[in-house]
Amino acid sequence: MAPKSMAVPRPDAEVGEVVTPARCQTVGVGLTTTQAPFIEQERAAGRTFIDQPYDLYSEENQLTWRRLYAGIRDKWTRYAHPRFLQGVESLLLSGHAIPRLDDINQKLAPLSGFKARAVSGYVPAYIFFDNLRTRNFPTTITIRDGSRLDYLPEPDIFHDIAGHVPMHTDRRFSDVLVRFGEVAREAAARAAKMSHDPAELNSCVESNIRAMARFFWFTVEFGLMQVSGELKAYGSGLLSSIGELEHSIHSPAVQRFPLQLEWVINQCFEIDHYQPLLFVASSFDQVFGMVDELERWLYDGKLDHIAPGEPTVNPEDLASFLTADLGILP
Ligand SMILES: [Fe+2]
Repeated sequence: MAPKSMAVPRPDAEVGEVVTPARCQTVGVGLTTTQAPFIEQERAAGRTFIDQPYDLYSEENQLTWRRLYAGIRDKWTRYAHPRFLQGVESLLLSGHAIPRLDDINQKLAPLSGFKARAVSGYVPAYIFFDNLRTRNFPTTITIRDGSRLDYLPEPDIFHDIAGHVPMHTDRRFSDVLVRFGEVAREAAARAAKMSHDPAELNSCVESNIRAMARFFWFTVEFGLMQVSGELKAYGSGLLSSIGELEHSIHSPAVQRFPLQLEWVINQCFEIDHYQPLLFVASSFDQVFGMVDELERWLYDGKLDHIAPGEPTVNPEDLASFLTADLGILP
């Protein structure tokens, strides 16, 4: 999951509610991206956080997982960050079948406190970041259509579980995600205290969200890192793409530059093709420190007027920050 795609709003979603799915479908009807009746039913009912109805996965869904896993396993060995590979082992991630989130969480929670939390689709930006703050990872449970193995603009369970979650076993990386969530909360709290006129307030908060989304994109989703003199991928968008993983490391068509906060937050990105520009971090400590810096820049007003362009901040993402439940502000 990532705060990158702008999806259909579900303003009446009861965030935080966990429900037992109504089993009105036959077993094995499928949990295919954009073709899953169960997901449509849950969204229509306004439910964001759901169960993983495992018996609804079809044989074709399971075959898609096996093909994806078989296609990327060797590339992980060559190009993935060592802590990612360690995470794959710790989680006993397997190419045999789509993982059960309960099984993943049994192994993940003791390592970093994180849990994968099944969602019915897009989660507004503030809710997404705030879940990270409390060490919950909104996780897509559908899987892509088997005819589109290597390209999918929206997240699926292969992207979320095979691309993201192995890094969540690493304590330092998981702390980076929590810091993201804390910065998002600070942004919402700061917005609540602003006395600007509504148009100016909206413009500032949109700019803050765009800065966070860009930073998240170029690190958590598409980050590269120098490890013992070799370039390795730690970003989930790369680690869940059979084609782009190798491309990101070797292709002369990719520009690779040292991670710089001022560049990253002002850099547009597009989601529908391989990334032509990637940023290389030196360590997870560097990334963590940069999220601290992002927070300082937020309070200095340096995120209020960043460069326009993609990603577009949709009204639901903006509203999620402006109406955030912050409890009692300091
Ligand atoms: Fe993602």
